[in-house]
Amino acid sequence: MQTEHSTDHTLAHASAQALDMADPLASMRDLFHIPLVNGRHAVYLTGNSLGAQPKAAAALVRQELDDWATLGVHGHLHGRSPWYSYHEQFRGPMSRLVGAMPSEVVMMNTLTTNLHLLMVSFYRPTRDRFRIIIEDSAFPSDSYAVQSQVEFHASHIGFDPSHGLIRLRPRDGEETLRTDDIEHAIAEHGASTALVMLGGVNYLTGQWFEMQRITEAAHGAGCVMGWDLAHAAGNVPVQLHDWNVDFAAWCSYKYLNGGPGAVAGAFVHERHCTTLASTPRSQRLPIFAGWWGNDPATRFQMKPDFIPVPSADAWALSNPPILSLTPLKASLDAFDRAGIDRLREKSLKLTAFMEAKLRTRLGDRIRVITPSDPTQRGCQLSLHAPGAGRALEQDLHARGVIVDYREPDVIRAAPTPLYNSFSDVNAFVEALAACLKN
Ligand SMILES: Cc1ncc(COP(=O)(O)O)c(C=O)c1O
Repeated sequence: MQTEHSTDHTLAHASAQALDMADPLASMRDLFHIPLVNGRHAVYLTGNSLGAQPKAAAALVRQELDDWATLGVHGHLHGRSPWYSYHEQFRGPMSRLVGAMPSEVVMMNTLTTNLHLLMVSFYRPTRDRFRIIIEDSAFPSDSYAVQSQVEFHASHIGFDPSHGLIRLRPRDGEETLRTDDIEHAIAEHGASTALVMLGGVNYLTGQWFEMQRITEAAHGAGCVMGWDLAHAAGNVPVQLHDWNVDFAAWCSYKYLNGGPGAVAGAFVHERHCTTLASTPRSQRLPIFAGWWGNDPATRFQMKPDFIPVPSADAWALSNPPILSLTPLKASLDAFDRAGIDRLREKSLKLTAFMEAKLRTRLGDRIRVITPSDPTQRGCQLSLHAPGAGRALEQDLHARGVIVDYREPDVIRAAPTPLYNSFSDVNAFVEALAACLKN
C-alpha cells in the first residue's frame, strides 16, 4: 500500500518527467558527459562552478594533438584548424553570448589575469578620483585584485589606500543588494570614484544585478563600469555593447563548459578600441602589451614598436594555449545550436520549478537567499540550511547529488538549461528532504 508521501513523490516524479518530455532542449543533455557518483549519473547541479564536459571535446583535442604530432611547427599555419588564428574562431560564438560585436571580444589568459590587465587600462586613479566600488561579497579573487590595484597606485598618485574601496552591503536583515541602494552609493561616492566593478551575477547569492541601470548610473557619475561575468556568461542574456559597458571579463569553465582552468574571456567596448591604432602613443589608453595584441599584418615584421589591433585583441599578450581553448569550441557550438534566448526560457522554468518544489516540499526548513524576482537571478539558487553546512553537501553527494557549499553557510544549486532536466531538480529536492529529515 502506498503512503500519502510516496504518492506525492510519484506524482512529483511524473510531473517532472512530463516537463522533460515537453522540453524542446532536452536532447542537448546528450551532448555532455554527466558526472558519476558510485558509477551512476549524478544529479549534477554545479555547472556554476565547473560545467560538464562536452562529448565532442575529446575528438577536437585529439585532432590538435595529432596535428602537433604530425605537423609540428607547421600546425600553426597548416593544421586543420591553424593555431595562428585559432582564437579568432571564438569571437563570433562568444560575442553572441555576451551581446557584443565580435571585435569587442577576445579569449585569453584566466579571469583574474584579465581583470588586472583591464584595470591597467580602465582604472586610472587621480588624487581626487581614486576609489573602486565593489560588492562586499565580491568573489575573493576580485577583492584581492581591486585591493592590490588600489595599493599599486596609491603611493605614487598620493591617496590613502585604506580609503580606496567602497564595499556595497545589503541592508540589515537583507541578503542581496537593492538597485536603488547601488545607485545611491554611486551618486554619493561617484565624484571620488574611478571605477565601479561588480559581478554580473553574484557568486554567493546568485543575484543578477540590473546591469544596464547600474552601468548608466556609473557613467552618470563619471566612473568607468567593469563587470565580472564569471557567473553570468552562458547563464543570463547580457547586452554588453548596447548597455555601453566599458569592459568585462569572465572565465569559461563554469556555464561555458570549457574545462578546468580553461581560457577566459574579455570584452572591451568598441569605443575604446577603434581609435587605438590612430591615437598617438602618449595619448592612447595604456595597455600592457604583448605580441598577440599587435596588428597581425605587422606582427611578424618583428619590429620593436607595439601597433595595437583596433579591437579587444589589442589586450592579448601571447599566442593562444590551443589545448585549453579547444574544449570550449565544442561547448560554444552547443550554445549556438540552442541559442541563449531559448536557454534562458528553459532556465526560467527550471529554476522556478526548483523554487516551487523547495517551498512545497521543505517549507521553512530551507531559506532561499537568491532574489525571487526571476529578472534578478540566473539559474542558481543559493540556500541557507541553518546548522547543516558542509555535512549537508556531503550527505547529498552520498545520495548522488552534486551541489556545492560556500562559507559561511550557503548551498548553491544551479540547474543549467543545457544539460539539466526537471527530473534532476525533482531528484535534488527529494534528496534534500531526505537529508534534512535525518
Ligand atoms: C566571480 C569570480 N571571480 C573570479 C574568479 C577567479 O577565477 P580565476 O581563477 O579563473 O581567475 C572566480 C572563480 O570561480 C569567480 O567566480
